[in-house]
Amino acid sequence: MQTLQTTSLWVRDNQLFILDQQALPQASRWLDANSVEALVGHIHALRVRGAPLIGLSASLLLALLAERGLNRDALLNALETLRASRPTAVNLMNNLDRMKLALAQEDFVPALVAEALRLIDEDKQLCERIAIAGSQLVKPGSRLLTHCNTGGLATAGVGTALGVINFAHQQGNVANVWVDETRPLLQGGRLTAWELGELGVPYQLITDSMAASLMAKGRVDAVWVGADRIAANGDVANKIGTYSLAVLAKFHGIPFYVAAPQTTLDPNCPNGEAIPIEQRAAAEVTGVAGSFGEVQWAPENARVYNPAFDVTPAALISGWVLDIGVVTPAEVATGKFAKR
Ligand code: MRU
Repeated sequence: MQTLQTTSLWVRDNQLFILDQQALPQASRWLDANSVEALVGHIHALRVRGAPLIGLSASLLLALLAERGLNRDALLNALETLRASRPTAVNLMNNLDRMKLALAQEDFVPALVAEALRLIDEDKQLCERIAIAGSQLVKPGSRLLTHCNTGGLATAGVGTALGVINFAHQQGNVANVWVDETRPLLQGGRLTAWELGELGVPYQLITDSMAASLMAKGRVDAVWVGADRIAANGDVANKIGTYSLAVLAKFHGIPFYVAAPQTTLDPNCPNGEAIPIEQRAAAEVTGVAGSFGEVQWAPENARVYNPAFDVTPAALISGWVLDIGVVTPAEVATGKFAKR
């Protein structure tokens, strides 16, 4: 396969490398992701993370394995193992469905390579279109709040919600971005803060619990988040803590926007209740770990509840900003995301 590089994926000499998102921002470290076991391990550990990126990394690996001579059955096994690596973000399943169609072709090796490259290219274009559509909603002098990480690290392009924020910044319309640190794994504090710093976008990092008082003081003009799955009725699964922001935004009369590519839509999923929510290890809540080491503060054997995502009901969302443009609540209510 040709050499290619995005912010966090790198193919060179027919090998796949991923930028370790657990090491950032303290260290910029590329890791080998050349077997199903290695990539699934990286996905579980969130070294590869973000809805679009998970699907793209899995698709690239499958194409590389095909080039290395794995037969159709072995590739199908690999595909199904990758599909099961994380349950909530539907981009993984959507991308792998397309790879499965390529695998069914007679000449499946070039078909898989072409499809993986197409998915990468398409994701870049989808991000660009989301950024263009979304930035039109950002008024001059905006103070925006975002949660988790939705930037170039999580996609092959400029990102989703963070792509919008960056475009709006380039248009001179962003006064400040409040970055939720995003407990428990700190994607905001580690990754979004780092990306905004690199992009030169003005930001202030806050703990998740500070959003309410900022809104009450009138210091947030809009909330922008990404999505891991959008159900047919417009309900959105995204990083845990998103739902609380949506409730707060509604209470304070602040617009709440979800930015995502078409690959995040799941017309087969009727509503948020049907979205599978990943449960994660207790250790993520009893302490914190990273390139700085590990700290545990909770008592040994503390009982923990740790869902990685929550569901924001469609009724709390002001607009779904997709690559096809801004979809309004009225359009969603009349079945825009439903199966045709
Ligand atoms: O657990 P993560 O870090 O993979 O969760 C990521 C999110 O929830 C993002 O908001 C979502 O995937 C959109 S990324 C463009």
